[in-house]
Amino acid sequence: MVKHNFLVCSVVIAIASMLSICDANNNDDGPKLHIVYLGSLPETTNSYSPTSHHLNMLQQVLNGSNPTKSLVRSYKRSFNGFAAMLTNEQAAKLIEMEGVVSVFPSKTLQTQTTRSWDFLGLPIKAAKKQQSTESNLVVGVIDTGIWPESESFSDEDINDPVPKKWKGTCAGGKNFTCNKKLIGARFYVDDSARDSHGHGSHTASIAAGNNVDNAGFYGIAQGTVRGAVPYARIAAYKVCGTGFFGCDDHDILAAFDDAIADGVDIISISIGFIRPLNLENDSIAIGSFHAMVKRVLVVSAAGNLGPKLGSVLNVAPWMLSVAANTIDRKIIDKVILGNRKVLTGSSINPFESNGTKIPIALSNGDSDKCPKEEADKCGCLDEILVKGKIVLCDNYPSFRDGVGGVIVKEGDTFLRIPFLPLLTLSEKDYEFVKSYKNSTKDPRAEILKSETTRDDDAPKVAAFSSRGPNPIIPEILKPDVSAPGVDILAAYSPISSPTGFPDESDKRSVNYDILSGTSMACPHVSGIATYVKSFHPDWSPAAIKSAILTSAKPMVSSSVDDVGEYAYGSGQANPIQAINPGLVYDINKGDYVQMLCNLGYDNGKIKLITEEINPCKGAADRSLVTNLNYPSFAVQVRPKVPFNISFSRTVTNVGLANSSYGVTITPVPEVNITVTPSVLSFKALDEKKSFVLNVIGKIPRTNVVTSSIVWLDGSHHVRSPIVIDVS
Ligand SMILES: *[C@@H]1O[C@H](CO)[C@@H](O)[C@H](O)[C@H]1NC(C)=O
Ligand SMILES: *[C@@H]1O[C@H](CO)[C@@H](O)[C@H](O)[C@H]1NC(C)=O
Ligand SMILES: *[C@@H]1O[C@H](CO)[C@@H](O)[C@H](O)[C@H]1NC(C)=O
Ligand SMILES: *[C@@H]1O[C@H](CO)[C@@H](O)[C@H](O)[C@H]1NC(C)=O
Ligand SMILES: *[C@@H]1O[C@H](CO)[C@@H](O)[C@H](O)[C@H]1NC(C)=O
Ligand SMILES: *[C@@H]1O[C@H](CO)[C@@H](O)[C@H](O)[C@H]1NC(C)=O
Ligand SMILES: *[C@@H]1O[C@H](CO)[C@@H](O)[C@H](O)[C@H]1NC(C)=O
Ligand SMILES: *[C@@H]1O[C@H](CO)[C@@H](O)[C@H](O)[C@H]1NC(C)=O
Repeated sequence: MVKHNFLVCSVVIAIASMLSICDANNNDDGPKLHIVYLGSLPETTNSYSPTSHHLNMLQQVLNGSNPTKSLVRSYKRSFNGFAAMLTNEQAAKLIEMEGVVSVFPSKTLQTQTTRSWDFLGLPIKAAKKQQSTESNLVVGVIDTGIWPESESFSDEDINDPVPKKWKGTCAGGKNFTCNKKLIGARFYVDDSARDSHGHGSHTASIAAGNNVDNAGFYGIAQGTVRGAVPYARIAAYKVCGTGFFGCDDHDILAAFDDAIADGVDIISISIGFIRPLNLENDSIAIGSFHAMVKRVLVVSAAGNLGPKLGSVLNVAPWMLSVAANTIDRKIIDKVILGNRKVLTGSSINPFESNGTKIPIALSNGDSDKCPKEEADKCGCLDEILVKGKIVLCDNYPSFRDGVGGVIVKEGDTFLRIPFLPLLTLSEKDYEFVKSYKNSTKDPRAEILKSETTRDDDAPKVAAFSSRGPNPIIPEILKPDVSAPGVDILAAYSPISSPTGFPDESDKRSVNYDILSGTSMACPHVSGIATYVKSFHPDWSPAAIKSAILTSAKPMVSSSVDDVGEYAYGSGQANPIQAINPGLVYDINKGDYVQMLCNLGYDNGKIKLITEEINPCKGAADRSLVTNLNYPSFAVQVRPKVPFNISFSRTVTNVGLANSSYGVTITPVPEVNITVTPSVLSFKALDEKKSFVLNVIGKIPRTNVVTSSIVWLDGSHHVRSPIVIDVS
């Protein structure tokens, strides 16, 4: 029984889908992986050995058993702590020990790839002129590793030697070599930093891959692939292993620890938990706080839990959280019926048709061997009947071969890249094919290979992209921005299957693959942040982020009932405008700590996140959280209750020394928005000016009111959305 529970539990953990249920059902007090957090490292480390300190502490709680066996990892480069196998009782003893800030169980996080996880039954509910400055920058990618031989990571075009500041190393394991492009590699899972999944190579190449001509996926989307900063360096930190075992907290923290100490400039992390986490429980929030302190901006994926409201992940204000939108290239596929009717579907079908129309069949014919509902879903396949034919399936089928093709009704579970000729049709078109089949003597069809068309509706936020409001800190608008994350062609691991999961029956090998997810959107913005930093090497993480947010291109909602800003934040990131934002909203460590005090975080939690000891003066005042110098405005108010919300902000002039900015407010009938003063005049660069934005109103019912302000000086356009959530 215990074993069964354990198996279920470990499966559940492995698929990272229902961790809380797993935890709730787990009465067994066996050792579990815990992270023991000890705060900062001592200033002088000469006589201090973190590992022996960690072993010593373990020895005191292990009651005689060997501490080296339970110590999984020591963190000793950017912060102090360790991961160890501990029972709940042992963990409770450790928390009492001197110097221990906190002890918490390690969780499993997921890469933010695609809907393809659904297919395996993993319910998703539960990646030349600036040459010399650019080549001085390093993008750290915390992911599934990297394929070092990929053309995207060759150093052919890089002349400059590895930057002097680089303190990292190429510790990718056996048969893993770095070069002047891929300058660092470390692994925390498996036995090498080699990417056997594909996700890490994909995200790294989106951020900083070389220009590679004539890349494509079986000829689909053929063209040049490239990263935002092709001369920047890449360091890969492999925290997610082969298969579906997710990415563990303790490995993620170790990767942050190393990446910060190695000297990366930007960290790209397309990983998130399966639901939003409190900051003190979120290893990515904690790791990225340390990165921010060391002036490293962390860019992360907003999550693939959309379009559910409040599903956004990676919500800490010191991170940049990215939503995924479509691009103007759309990949479609077509089916031609025997009556010459052509229907358009949406899967990426790499299989070439030979020009023959083949018969259409129902999975089980008209036999009553299995219930109709099962048969309609292709749950029971009459192999003889369907051999070589095109089968109609209400659901995505689980079989991999034996049929000539599949037509599937579009649902919330789909795999973009199928194993066999497959077309996904809208319900209406699917029913059309069904009635054609039922009303035709010799129903036939031909499924064509996918092609690309123009999508004039782009950019639109993808349905899967996680939505706001920020479930942890509603005063901080998340996601921050949107970037392309649908059907992105980028480097891949040739030892993975194109669908991204290990599968014996799929022997295809590709160097470039098309993936969708906020995982793919994240490295677009990591690349943009690196690009901005190449122009402004001295800018803080908050300044770089502000530049990207205030210059983003406004977007429009996908549908009337979709709160646009909750889908795309400030809009679609715009690299060219981001390098010259005019004004920036800067934030320092102390401001974030003050915000945590205002939120009512107790000193213990604040210490855990920030290492600050007793920083809060006086009682928490939630109404001051809106004063964090964030480049967007958000607040929650109650219906029918009059409100007057103040947002204090300070902008720094990074445009023209002598300049004057006037404010434009988008009027909305429900509220009165004022900005004081409404003109900001600067005499020098880096001069700061403050203003207060007030939103006054009384709104009768639940609603979300959105507006925006723009500071204009004639050449710069500094925009911030305003979101008033009445709930
Ligand atoms: C430690 O070991 C002793 C003797 O074997 C045992 O009585 C005690 O229950 C153990 N304590 C814990 C916390 O395992
Ligand atoms: C090293 O890895 C590459 C890529 O997988 C492979 O082609 C090569 O044979 C390997 N070499 C050795 C010595 O294992
Ligand atoms: C969050 O962390 C705290 C201690 O840091 C712990 O008590 C709590 O159980 C954690 N919550 C979750 C949901 O993991
Ligand atoms: C085309 O493919 C179908 C089904 O795979 C096969 O039956 C047929 O013989 C092929 N036709 C030609 C001309 O190769
Ligand atoms: C097929 O057509 C017959 C007669 O027109 C009808 O009774 C039956 O319901 C149809 N079946 C399907 C699956 O549409
Ligand atoms: C709103 O609050 C500000 C202070 O934050 C105050 O100056 C202003 O008079 C208030 N407005 C109203 C209408 O109460
Ligand atoms: C700054 O601009 C104002 C108005 O455009 C102009 O009158 C003034 O001379 C300028 N000052 C300097 C130092 O350039
Ligand atoms: C906005 O201000 C005007 C003028 O002071 C006032 O008439 C109006 O009622 C205000 N609207 C709201 C929504 O508070």
